[in-house]
Amino acid sequence: NKTEKLQLLRDSIISYPDFPKPGIIFRDIFGVLHNIIALKAVKDLIVEHILFLEVDLIIGIDSRGFLFGPMICLELGKPFLPIRKKGKLPGKVIQQSYDLEYGQDTFELQTEYINKNTRVLIIDDLLATGGSMAAAVELVKSTEAEVVECLVIIELTGLKGREKLDVPVHSFIQYD
Ligand code: PRP
Ligand code: ADE
Repeated sequence: NKTEKLQLLRDSIISYPDFPKPGIIFRDIFGVLHNIIALKAVKDLIVEHILFLEVDLIIGIDSRGFLFGPMICLELGKPFLPIRKKGKLPGKVIQQSYDLEYGQDTFELQTEYINKNTRVLIIDDLLATGGSMAAAVELVKSTEAEVVECLVIIELTGLKGREKLDVPVHSFIQYD
């Protein structure tokens, strides 16, 4: 059931103090991919959650959003589109800069596969300060598409990333 799946997920995320910088507790999502039962559980949790949202397109954030987006797309029969760090995507792209919990960067999105009628779900592994997700939302909104929801597996609630976002946000595991 859902409670057991959430517990399995929580147990498979390993926390590393002072990585990659002193004071940061790194929540390592790759533990979930190493434990195949936890991976199946997280896939089920995400698919069950998204089923009711009438999503046309799943957009994953570079790079850990790429781990979960395509496997959900296969289940839902919907396409995947990446938001990538700058300079990696060919064709017509739009850009948005953002601040990270530890750094700064620019995202890009290809505009040819998305239009004003597209209902988009944005997926990533983790919400920290919300800088990445807010930039992703801005990119999608500038195509006039609708952001139905931002979905993350882990939310670092103490950083209040959710407050940067004016669209629905869902997380499965929370850390202060
Ligand atoms: C991490 C994480 C999120 C983002 C969250 O990615 O996967 O995308 O940081 O932080 P924020 O809410 O403060 O913006 P990172 O930029 O480290 O890149 P990676 O996925 O390539 O490791
Ligand atoms: N991305 C930003 N902050 C992070 C954290 N504390 N753990 C894992 N990934 C992160």
